[in-house]
Amino acid sequence: MKKKLWGGRFSKPTDNLVEEFTASISFDRRMYRQDIRGSIAHAKMLAKCGIITKSDSRKIVSGLREIQKEIENGEFEFTVAHEDIHMNIERRLTEKIGQAGGKLHTARSRNDQVALDIRMYLKDEIGEITGLIPELVRSLVRLARENIGVLMPGYTHLQRAQPIRFAHHLLAYVEMFLRDGERLQDCLKRADVMPLGSAALAGTGYPIDREYCAGLLGFRAISKNSMDAVSDRDFAIEFCAAASIMMMHFSRLSEELVLWSSQEFRFVRLADGFCTGSSIMPQKKNPDVPELVRGKTGRVYGHLLSLLTIMKSLPLAYNKDMQEDKEPLFDTVDTLKNVLAVTTALMGNITPDKKNMENALRLGFTTATEMADYLAGRGLPFREAHEVAGKVVSFCEKRGMGLEEVPLEKLREFSPIFNADVFEAIDVRSSADRKTSPGGSALVEIEKRLKELERIHGR
Ligand code: ARG
Repeated sequence: MKKKLWGGRFSKPTDNLVEEFTASISFDRRMYRQDIRGSIAHAKMLAKCGIITKSDSRKIVSGLREIQKEIENGEFEFTVAHEDIHMNIERRLTEKIGQAGGKLHTARSRNDQVALDIRMYLKDEIGEITGLIPELVRSLVRLARENIGVLMPGYTHLQRAQPIRFAHHLLAYVEMFLRDGERLQDCLKRADVMPLGSAALAGTGYPIDREYCAGLLGFRAISKNSMDAVSDRDFAIEFCAAASIMMMHFSRLSEELVLWSSQEFRFVRLADGFCTGSSIMPQKKNPDVPELVRGKTGRVYGHLLSLLTIMKSLPLAYNKDMQEDKEPLFDTVDTLKNVLAVTTALMGNITPDKKNMENALRLGFTTATEMADYLAGRGLPFREAHEVAGKVVSFCEKRGMGLEEVPLEKLREFSPIFNADVFEAIDVRSSADRKTSPGGSALVEIEKRLKELERIHGR
């Protein structure tokens, strides 16, 4: 039976089942680096403030550095008997340096320690995640640039609506992912507040220097209320919310790739290396990667809901329920990083099928509005113009031909005011390029945004 760090008031050992049930070491060991960094800063602060001796502080710091090496070399023995990462490390410290180790926890509680660790962990991870976004942006921008000449139908209600450029569609996702990055940066601001020094909940009477610790650990501010500092996890919830929104964007892009790569659309081909086959149907080439990204969106949403539910109605301050915050948070981080990396790679492995996209455009009669506008421009009331264009569409539909394939003589049977210049009006390319309003689908507008993106994020 291992002796507990808090064992003083207990006369019976912890039940094995309880030990297993209450331990978090299997997952919170992931925060060992943050825990050690935090403890080193705390020990230095204690010595600086004369709460422990300089010599004890030095022993603690070097002991902690050795422990970090032990963990990284796989030599550290994690045990549920010491419940969590905080006590596993502290116990080992005392084993290594003796009495001085017992002084590290002066003016501190696991409650402010765990809040500190999670905040540091999240700060590190948000840095990594936002660091991956430019590469994703570049992969989309490259695909858009290489295929700037490709037109396709833009959809509403999943019905062919108006001609657009493939690049315009891709750049819509770039805007979404850039906002996702901003959202993560924004939640970083609120995670970047140091809770250490709040102790269990009320603060401490020791003459500590919280600003000094915050400086050592690179926090922009210290928390202003000790009870708030140890009892809220809103910063983690905020992160999961930002991650969920980003996953929502990934799921929409993925869904389009699944649709577009289907035999029904045949708009894009995904490289073989990014697809899998079927064990029974030899003809199959399945878009597993985007499908799985779509599916993983569900688990990230689930984690957000878990965190919200764990925190719901908890009385202040710390409650053990809050130990359940870590697994959803960690899995959100892992999933988001994986999805970012795999989607970035996938974007480099997509070939649009120009012919099929433009064929869909032709048979989608996506310039019927232009035809009506053309007639209206020549004096026909818009209602009548709409009627005429509708009849031409119906004529084409029956014959499987595009609007632009109807000869002028035939068009004149629908309305005598048709002239040869109608073909310019209903050309899909000129239709897309006439949308020159800022942010529109015209080539000049797309070029403008592409250049901007290439300048800011590189090629
Ligand atoms: N393992 C705990 C957690 O993750 C650390 C804080 C424990 N504090 C306490 N008073 N039992 O929440």
